[in-house]
Order: sequence, then C-alpha cells, then structure tokens
Amino acid sequence: MKYSEYSVVVVGSGAAGLYAALKISQNLKVPEGILLISKSSLGNSNSRYAQGGIVGVVHQNPLDSVESHVKDTLKAGAGLSDEIVTKHISQASDEVINNLITNGVSFDTNDDGDLTFTLEAAHSIRRILHSGGDATGKGITESLIEAVTKDSGIHVLENTMAVEILVSAQKECKGIIIYNNVTGEHEIIYSSAVILATGGVGQVYKYTTNPNGATGDGIASAYEAGAIIQDMEFIQFHPTALALSPESQNRFLISEAVRGEGAKLINHNGEEFMVKYSDKKELAPRDVVTRAIYAEMKKEDSSNVYLNASIIDKTKLLKRFPTIYARCKENGIDISKDLIPVAPAAHYTMGGIKAEICGKTSIKGLYAIGETACTGLHGANRLASNSLLECVVCAYELADYLSFANLEIPKKIDDGIRKMIDVYSRSISGKEYDYNNLKSKLKDIMWENVGIIRTEESLLKASSEIKALQDNFKRRRKCMSQGEYEYRNMLTIASIITQSALERKESRGAHCRSDYPQADKTRAMHSNIDKLSDKGIYYVK
Ligand code: FAD
Ligand code: SIN
Repeated sequence: MKYSEYSVVVVGSGAAGLYAALKISQNLKVPEGILLISKSSLGNSNSRYAQGGIVGVVHQNPLDSVESHVKDTLKAGAGLSDEIVTKHISQASDEVINNLITNGVSFDTNDDGDLTFTLEAAHSIRRILHSGGDATGKGITESLIEAVTKDSGIHVLENTMAVEILVSAQKECKGIIIYNNVTGEHEIIYSSAVILATGGVGQVYKYTTNPNGATGDGIASAYEAGAIIQDMEFIQFHPTALALSPESQNRFLISEAVRGEGAKLINHNGEEFMVKYSDKKELAPRDVVTRAIYAEMKKEDSSNVYLNASIIDKTKLLKRFPTIYARCKENGIDISKDLIPVAPAAHYTMGGIKAEICGKTSIKGLYAIGETACTGLHGANRLASNSLLECVVCAYELADYLSFANLEIPKKIDDGIRKMIDVYSRSISGKEYDYNNLKSKLKDIMWENVGIIRTEESLLKASSEIKALQDNFKRRRKCMSQGEYEYRNMLTIASIITQSALERKESRGAHCRSDYPQADKTRAMHSNIDKLSDKGIYYVK
C-alpha cells in the first residue's frame, strides 16, 4: 500500500483545522511538512455557515471583561463547564482575535472604523464580533483559506477522508489511513502529530443546521482507537432553524442574533409565548428557548412556530442580516414584512474527544481541536458564539505546544498497526450498502428517541434499533465508499450519544429527560467513555 510521511497531519478544513495549519506553519520549522486533508473541498464545513459571530473579550471593547464572559459561560454550562479552561480561553481571546485580524480576517466596524459587537442569548453584554453582517463563518474561513493556500509549507489534499487512526500497543498515535473519494484508493500517512479538527455530529439527526459532512468521523475514529470521549449526551438543538416544510431536513439557520436585535417568537395564535417560559424571554439560554418552542409545537400539533423580525428597523435588518434576508427571499419570505417559520434542529456537539486546550488527548501524538474536542468550555450547554472562539484559541495554543514537541516521523510500527494496515491492503467483496437509506433510518431513530426530550423508554428503544442496524452492517473497518464510512461512523456516534443519555439520569443543560428532574447545578459530573478500560460508560468527578 502506498504511504507518505509528514511531521504534522491536520484533518479538517473548518476554522480549527485551517487556523491550526497556518499557525503551525508560521511558528515552527516542520522538517517533513504539514499535510491538511479535507473530506470535501477546502472550507466546506460547519464553520463556513456560522452566522451570529465569535466571542471576543478584546481590548477594543472596554465595557467587557473576562469575569463577565466567564460568568455567562459557566451559567449556560449548567454546572459542567470547567472554570479554569473557561478563564484561559476568555483571557486568550484578545491576543488570538487580533492575530486573526493580522492574518487577514476582517470583522464589521462602524463608520469610524471601530469594531461593532452584537448580543446573543445569555450574554450579559454586547461582545460578539461579526463579519459581513451575518456571514461570520464565511468571512473567517475564506480569509484563512487564502492564507493557507499561499503558504508553501502546507500541502492540501481535498476530497480525502481520514478513516482510521494508527495507534500502537503503547497507546501512541503513529499516523492515519486516508481514503480518496475520487480515486477510491487508500493510503497510509505516517506522522508524529495527528490533529483531528473534524467538527461535529449534527448529521446523525433528521433535522440539523449542519452540512452533510458533519458525521462525527473524528470522534468515532478516536473512540475506536481507544481515546476518551466525553459528554456526548449534550447535543445542542438550536431553537430557530428555517422550517419550510417537514421534508426539508438540512435546515438553514436563522441566527440568534436576530432575536438579539429584537425579533419575537410567536405561536400560531399570534401569541408571544416566551414570556411564559423565562423572564429573559427570547434571550433565555438556547436550551430553554428550544424546549419552549418544542412545547408550543406539541400543544398546537404543528411543525413550526414563527419568528417576527419585521419589528426591527428595516435598514438595520437588511444591513445586519443580508444572508438571512436573501435566503428567506429566495423562498418567498420577506423578513421585513413576513413571519419566518422556525423550529429547533440539531446544531452543536458539546461533548467529543476529551482534550486539553492545546489539543492533547488521552493518546500520545493525537490531538483534537474545535467542535470535535471536549475541553470542558461548554459544559452541558454552549453559550452562543463561544465555539468559533474555542476553535481558534485551541488551534493557536496547539501551534505553541508543538513548538516544543518532538516531530520526528515514527520509525517503528508494531504488529497491531501492521495488522490494521493489512485490512486496508485487501480488497473487499459484495455490493455497496444503500447508505443513504440507512442514514435516513438512523437519523429518524435519533430524532424521535434521542432528541430534545428523552426518556428511559425512548432511549432503550433507540439503543435496540441502533444495535439492529449495527448487526446488519458487516463492514466494520474497510468500506467501499465515503458514504459507507460515514454511515459506519454515524452508527458509532449514535450509539455513544444514546448510551451516555441513558447513563445520565438527570436533566441538565441540553440533556432533558422528562423522567428525571432538573439537576442540582452545584453538583456535576462529566460523563467519560473510556473504551480501553472496558468498563463501558461511567462517570468521573
Ligand atoms: P468544522 O467547521 O465543522 O470543520 C470540520 C472539517 O473537517 C470540515 O472541513 C470537514 O469536511 C472535515 N472532515 C470531517 N470529517 C473528516 C474526515 N474523516 N476526513 C477529512 N476531513 C474531515 N459558532 C459560533 O461560535 N458562532 C456562530 O455564529 C455559529 N453559527 C453557526 C451556524 C451554523 C449554521 C452552524 C452549523 C454552526 C454554527 N456555529 C457557530 C458553530 C461553529 O460554526 C462550529 O462549532 C465550528 O465552526 C466548528 O469548527 P471546526 O473547525 O471544529 O469544524
Ligand atoms: C447563531 O447565529 O444563532 C448561531 C450562533 C452559535 O451557534 O454560536
């Protein structure tokens, strides 16, 4: 089998992967080069679609403080956010955001050229930077792509998927197996630092704001390799995705910033219902707004409620939300006059591969950053616009950390790795699975049973249905196509989310069990899944 050697491999080209590759190239002399691989084209990612913005506790905003940001983050995290991690990320935001600006990212300013800040739910002050009004992700990723493609130290492979992590018996990462989805060929990449920046898992749910690629590949592969996975029961459902019809499953987001600027939620009777659920009304934490909408939809037996943005001044509305305005207009909705049909959709993965701020995981040489990682910042519920911040701060810190690491290419591989590689050298027979149909089945199971409200009964039902799908899917390692690999990974992710949700016998943050009350927020435990210990799922303090 063909192989290559690189000092560093970055998997994923969202904000985390692009910025990590760039900073590593800027900070380090990398003897064997940096490889950046991406499952589809560069920048096709969750990051690309980010609207609201990025938190920045920056010196340009003297009204803000680290203390205030930390307080808001910890409150949203429902007792599970790590205070030290949160402080560190908040403190680093000034340096890192300003470094992004130095690297060509531009954020919106007023007529005097000063940065402007917006408000989103559960933030106590305006601290969110944005770009192109509501096109923050596009602004950040396009600037980073430009910088990465100009950087001769970074070799880019598009349409290339990481399918297996090579880990030795000593629990050291030696590289990865990649699959080229155009040629259908597999290749070994030996490397001393493998960085997973593969994003979230939204696609395991029927309704999601995430693009097709968000199938949890990095988390599934790390789990198979024996890494510790944490807090996967905490899936954030965004309250307001555009709900044109029950058939539209990949849903366009209507940013929380629209509510931040004054839009109101109403039900089919025209009633502003949020007042019944929280004194913060439309700006209550995301999980609260999502459950309120869900309750109203159930009561009315409808598949959406409405967002009324027409009460915002039209000039401001069009200037702040040009992307949302245009997308709704294409679908016959003029947001300056018409109500916008909205419903919750799976949006963000709070859990992931347990990692330090610098990306270190429980496996030596394997790093995880961005949505795929779980640093402890978000706890049980992420505060809006904290994820892009986490992506860039962790990428920045990782580049710093690697300046002191040994980046020699691994010389020796053991029998275990040799056997793994053998699997990929052999050809496989049989017909390709109808993975689109299988993915749909799995997404239905997850939406119906492991969604916004869960019970022991629904989770046990999901668990047995997922097990049946797993039993019917015989290809555990080498697959025939990207679609099959994604389905394989989605099964692993669905199973981990369901088991974690079963184990967490309380309601906390985004994890709502109607058979258990809200937890005491002062007493919290993370859920770790430690594959190597073979103990299954257990909680640690
Ligand atoms: P991603 O941006 O998802 O990138 C993952 C990359 O990995 C992709 O390039 C993908 O192709 C690649 N990949 C995946 N698997 C493989 C594999 N096996 N092999 C090779 N490549 C692979 N957060 C905010 O802070 N502010 C916002 O305003 C905001 N708005 C959002 C709006 C939407 C619609 C969505 C979906 C999310 C939003 N979020 C927002 C969340 C935020 O965008 C994401 O959490 C963040 O961008 C994740 O970045 P990432 O680099 O970790 O992953
Ligand atoms: C939004 O714009 O509502 C999304 C912000 C986020 O997910 O952080």
